[in-house]
Amino acid sequence: MQVEIILTVNEMEDQLLVGKTAVVIDTLRATSTIVTALYYGAKLVEPKAGIVEARNRGKELKEGTYLLCGERNGIKVEGFDLGNSPLEYQPQVVSGKTVILSTTNGTKTIQRAMLAHRVLIGSLLNRSITMEEAINLGKDLVLCCSGTQGHFSLEDFVTAGAMISYLKNKGIQIQGDDRVQTAWLLYERYADDLVELMSCSQNGSRLVNIGQKADIEFCAQLDFFPLLCYFDGERVYY
Ligand code: MLT
Repeated sequence: MQVEIILTVNEMEDQLLVGKTAVVIDTLRATSTIVTALYYGAKLVEPKAGIVEARNRGKELKEGTYLLCGERNGIKVEGFDLGNSPLEYQPQVVSGKTVILSTTNGTKTIQRAMLAHRVLIGSLLNRSITMEEAINLGKDLVLCCSGTQGHFSLEDFVTAGAMISYLKNKGIQIQGDDRVQTAWLLYERYADDLVELMSCSQNGSRLVNIGQKADIEFCAQLDFFPLLCYFDGERVYY
């Protein structure tokens, strides 16, 4: 299997996506939150790049059937129902609801990935089931790290490494460049210390500083939610 890692949304050129399986990764926290929301009973998640776009979509839906969710600089958007902490997405809150989600980086990466043959939403929480689907689909794989405002991010890269580790342990022959090798080596070195590693990242330190370290601990739980999540260009569903 040919595997590539894209480090930021800015690297997501069309030819890197077309015909492939894309897995979008925003470990802290957009893709972890999406997987949590769907696992806990949300009907679907609609990722929206902009806040206005999210509000406008809400106006089209019947009151009480949706939640307006998202963050800017890690903090819940004013007037929204929920922020972007997966811990807010409890079953009693999200069950049966359409979650309209707008985040700083993750939702943009998801939308950008839509040119791929299939788009999967990936995180540490659903690592193994997502890789099983990538194997079943039999296409080349592109792991799309969201990064942070155009910059490389450690937590997305180590999550890509966790995915590569799964493939290697399954005996899949991987062709990839040194990014693939480095992500794998990083994961193998820190597999037992993911919370410490991610807390040192730029994004992780920001979350620690706004009192959200519990989110890092939550998002680091490998295979906690065995849920396969697809994006069809508009909605994330399972
Ligand atoms: C993002 O999409 O940029 C993030 O998930 C940011 C966050 O949750 O703080």
